[in-house]
Amino acid sequence: MTSVNREEKLVIRPANPLEHEQALVEAYQSAYEELQEYAYRRREEITRYFEWLWRRCGNGVLVAFPNSDPVALIACDPNWNMAEDPLLGELHEFFVHRDFQGRGIGRALFEAGLRFLSDHGCRRYALWVGERNEAAQRLYERYGFQRTGQVGIWVRMERSEPWPPA
Ligand SMILES: CC(C)(COP(=O)(O)OP(=O)(O)OC[C@H]1O[C@@H](n2cnc3c(N)ncnc32)[C@H](O)[C@@H]1OP(=O)(O)O)[C@@H](O)C(=O)NCCC(=O)NCCS
Repeated sequence: MTSVNREEKLVIRPANPLEHEQALVEAYQSAYEELQEYAYRRREEITRYFEWLWRRCGNGVLVAFPNSDPVALIACDPNWNMAEDPLLGELHEFFVHRDFQGRGIGRALFEAGLRFLSDHGCRRYALWVGERNEAAQRLYERYGFQRTGQVGIWVRMERSEPWPPA
């Protein structure tokens, strides 16, 4: 596997996914090609979903650019459950274009997402992941996430310690 040289090449920044709709819809569809039961399939649904992510927390939608075209996205939401758990940050979405997986972009983006949530006051982090999406679950476990429940095909995972580790 080749690593992306983060210093020189990979740019991660907040971006409106609708401004990069074509590239990000394609990246989303390719990322979930073998995990279709966990994803929207039609372009209109994906676009509507991107709109929703953007409305939830615009500057928490972080997009990775290994060159001028975006290939990956993480959507962070520090205000998801303010009433019951104001310190909890939710990660709504996370994907890397299939052709760019396995190069370290996912890890770089995931760390940027955790950092964003911490910078916005979160001390715990949570997400839902498909029950047979073992590659993603392993990645989350390496970041200290543990299973805390399951609803249907969705597994709840949470990290209960602040990021970055002390
Ligand atoms: C999960 C995902 C975002 C990871 O992105 P990525 O760019 O491939 O991740 P990285 O290259 O940083 O690799 C992270 C780790 O996963 C491993 N990995 C990457 N792709 C893998 C694959 N297809 N199968 C198994 N392991 C894989 C890497 O070896 C690496 O392990 P390491 O930390 O021990 O070196 C990406 O695989 C993806 O988009 N998957 C489909 C969408 C998805 O499942 N999203 C999560 C929804 S909850």
